[in-house]
Amino acid sequence: MVSLPDFIRGLPKAELHLHIEGSLEPEQMFEFAKRNAIALPFASVEALRAAYDFANLQDFLDIYYQGADVLRTEADFRDLALAYFHRVAADGARHVELFFDPQTHTARGVPFGVVAEGLLAGMAQAQRQLGVSSKLILCFLRHLDEDAAFATLREAEPWLDRIVGVGLDSSEVGHPPAKFAQVFRAARERGLKLVAHAGEEGPPAYVWEALDLLHVDRIDHGNRALEDDALVQRLVREKLTLTVCPLSNLKLCVVSDLAGHPLKRMLQLGLKATVNADDPAYFGGYLAENWIAVSQALALTREDLIVLAKNSFTGSFLTPDEVAGHLAAIDAYAAAQPAIA
Ligand code: HPA
Ligand code: ZN
Repeated sequence: MVSLPDFIRGLPKAELHLHIEGSLEPEQMFEFAKRNAIALPFASVEALRAAYDFANLQDFLDIYYQGADVLRTEADFRDLALAYFHRVAADGARHVELFFDPQTHTARGVPFGVVAEGLLAGMAQAQRQLGVSSKLILCFLRHLDEDAAFATLREAEPWLDRIVGVGLDSSEVGHPPAKFAQVFRAARERGLKLVAHAGEEGPPAYVWEALDLLHVDRIDHGNRALEDDALVQRLVREKLTLTVCPLSNLKLCVVSDLAGHPLKRMLQLGLKATVNADDPAYFGGYLAENWIAVSQALALTREDLIVLAKNSFTGSFLTPDEVAGHLAAIDAYAAAQPAIA
């Protein structure tokens, strides 16, 4: 019999909620700062790590945007992506749909193409060397206005055939999905998939708006949807995937402890929940660590874990044939591992 951590690491799975800038480890931040001759406002890796103490989403975002300043060249973005893929491959990921925040970089004078080409090069290398497939999702920063989002979509035009969809992230409260209805419509007309962070700190009304005004294909986080029974019924009926991030929720005080995390309730309600890392370098764990921590805290069963793994592929933007292949791999794994020690 395998241990729970070994069962989880071996289980074929996808990661659907991962901000690549949030995979920038402190050591790597110092390395990139050195090679780009940038002075960091922290004396050491330890001092930087000690600053990762957040009371809410905004506390985190302030330090996350500051950290991204060391990313300047195509090689930086490629190396950042590759380091992440090595970690997530070891966690048993077979597929990743990763977010990037172009406005964080273009506002500093780093061209969109430098960011996109670097990330795409890392993704191609991960496919070749690690067998991990991936798709790229362009996130609009919701604390900026819709005109800025439109400008970003225009800048992205030459790369849109290599970008699967658009998302919405950054400071949620005070920046409802309604603010981006037009740019999401333009993205939809362009054939892009749509996702949005909603219900992390924001109210259930923001999740309704993401559904009714943005017409999203997935909800990122969605924790606060559970406060509204009619909303839960809608999400269940439409089989909308929620990309849930347990260690992020703990670090950003969305939950006070993992034992009180809503993941088990989401599964019991029939919601299509998945487990993801969000910003692993800042929140204390990559994909498998999220799975292990939340499984232990909530006493998830082997069957729960298999459902979560299947949800990660059925909720992905892979083709039906690709999804079917991954589901068959999960069934084969489950048959070979009939119990957890
Ligand atoms: N929420 C909103 N914006 C973000 C997050 C998050 O968890 N991570 C990176 N940008
Ligand atoms: Zn996120």
